[in-house]
Amino acid sequence: MNETSKLRLGVNIDHVATVRNARGGAYPDPLRAAKIAEEAGADGITAHLREDRRHISDADIDGLMEVLTVPLNFEMAATEEMQQIALRHKPHAVCIVPEKREERTTEGGLEVAREENRLAHYIAPLRDAGCRVSIFIAADQRQIEAAHRIGAEVIELHTGAYCDAVTDGDAETAEKELKAMTEMAAFADDLGLEVHAGHGLSYDTVTPIAALPQVRELNIGHFLIGESIFLGLEPAIHKMRQMMDEARS
Ligand code: PXP
Repeated sequence: MNETSKLRLGVNIDHVATVRNARGGAYPDPLRAAKIAEEAGADGITAHLREDRRHISDADIDGLMEVLTVPLNFEMAATEEMQQIALRHKPHAVCIVPEKREERTTEGGLEVAREENRLAHYIAPLRDAGCRVSIFIAADQRQIEAAHRIGAEVIELHTGAYCDAVTDGDAETAEKELKAMTEMAAFADDLGLEVHAGHGLSYDTVTPIAALPQVRELNIGHFLIGESIFLGLEPAIHKMRQMMDEARS
């Protein structure tokens, strides 16, 4: 296994922008949320600039690049437009995700194996520009091997199916999904890939994922932004951080 280190928490602020955009005004401000998350101990901020700009805007990315003192993980689809934007900003990390216009959220992992050639060429300039390239994929050996071959440094395992199964009370599927992630986190780590995980994580689902020793970073958004209505953003993040640390120890 790679050298272990503290499990990092990346706070995804997309849904602060969702609430802002519901009225088309200026608040709540995602940049303010990002700064509070930083102060609450977030190790990074994640933002997904979608093709349809349904939440995060180009101006949000400009602002994040200006004000953040922690790394920005820039989530994007593998399109020409997004590549140009990433190359202009050179964020610490880019996470390549699949994107469908009609989906409510990022439903599955990226199909890397079938698009190996295109993706290898796509990420090369991003790597050359100094961005850490992460690929958002299912816990599937074929996709992990392909992500490794195209030169990605990081994979992010899609935890959505596991979280949905827990929420639905489907213990059998939850166990199957967790087993796949346990095995594939170890497999990816053995290949030398850094392993991240995220999507749909909450206080009810974070512990077994945070306990996977090869996972180095969790990216969590929707639940934390929702929980901040009740607890406040800073306490909501503190509680997640504490649960992650407890799972790790
Ligand atoms: N990681 C990736 C790659 C994602 O696309 C998302 C959702 O934008 C997340 C993590 C965070 O998921 P959630 O908002 O459900 O916590």
